[in-house]
Amino acid sequence: MLETATSIPAVRAAVAAARAEGRVIGFVPTMGALHEGHVRLMEHCRDRSGFTVASIFVNPTQFGPSEDFDRYPRALEDDLDKCREAGVDLVFTPSRAEVYPRGESASTFVEVPVLSRVLEGVVRPTHFRGVATVVLSLLNIVRPDLAVFGRKDYQQQLLIRRMVEDLHLGVEIETAPTVREADGLAMSSRNRYLDPDQRRAATVLFRALEAARRLVGDGERDADRIRQILRSTIESEKTARLEYAAVADAETLEELGEVAPGRAVVALLAARFGTTRLIDNARLTE
Ligand code: PAJ
Repeated sequence: MLETATSIPAVRAAVAAARAEGRVIGFVPTMGALHEGHVRLMEHCRDRSGFTVASIFVNPTQFGPSEDFDRYPRALEDDLDKCREAGVDLVFTPSRAEVYPRGESASTFVEVPVLSRVLEGVVRPTHFRGVATVVLSLLNIVRPDLAVFGRKDYQQQLLIRRMVEDLHLGVEIETAPTVREADGLAMSSRNRYLDPDQRRAATVLFRALEAARRLVGDGERDADRIRQILRSTIESEKTARLEYAAVADAETLEELGEVAPGRAVVALLAARFGTTRLIDNARLTE
């Protein structure tokens, strides 16, 4: 049976009851408009816990002033059906006032240095402090044993791991694989903004990552040549506007000169298709 809660005391009571039964508490935070990627995250969590909590909250503080907060898709009834199918036990759907009782601009913020400044943080300078703040807040409300995030938002899961470590939160963070459409496009709530031409063009992110992986598989070590193939593949689609193509250390996100054997390396991409901004990433070494 799926329970829902809109208040913090109601969440705490349901979690306390589950914990009293000796159940491991798992948590999946989301912004709703759920798709198969979210569902798999929930299933991943359910397989590892005895009581799965999901949250649906479109967090205003992680959107920049010119971003899509107002038009971000909202589909609560459909979302609740997906949570039910995924075997979620409790869904938390708080209001803005429940999460930010003092209002968004007067609240305490959490800042994760360095990791919040590079890549996504360059174009979206206040994004990650909004993410870190809301995730810390939600973790404090739910107090799970384990929380699950998607690899699709690679920088986000790294930053959350860093925050959890730095602030001694004592919650286990798991990262689940990126779920893709049949043609390789990473699932995203924002894919629904794409018109048919943009939707076709958007597969170029995955094609570029695959080309980079092949290059590395063939023995290429020069990171600039790998960036070049990422860039030229994306630029081959006229409707795509590349924002960044990075070849970086998988832990620090530091840009690399060389893909050295034994070093964990990740390729990260951001591009716009019309007004829709999409990101994707792939490990280049194991
Ligand atoms: P949202 O974009 O709704 O994503 C919720 C979770 O689903 C994140 O951990 C994200 O990485 C994961 N996810 C999204 N698409 C995925 C895919 N195709 N495959 C696997 N996992 C996928 O990320 C956020 O919300 C917010 O920033 C949040 C963490 C909830 C804080 O507000």
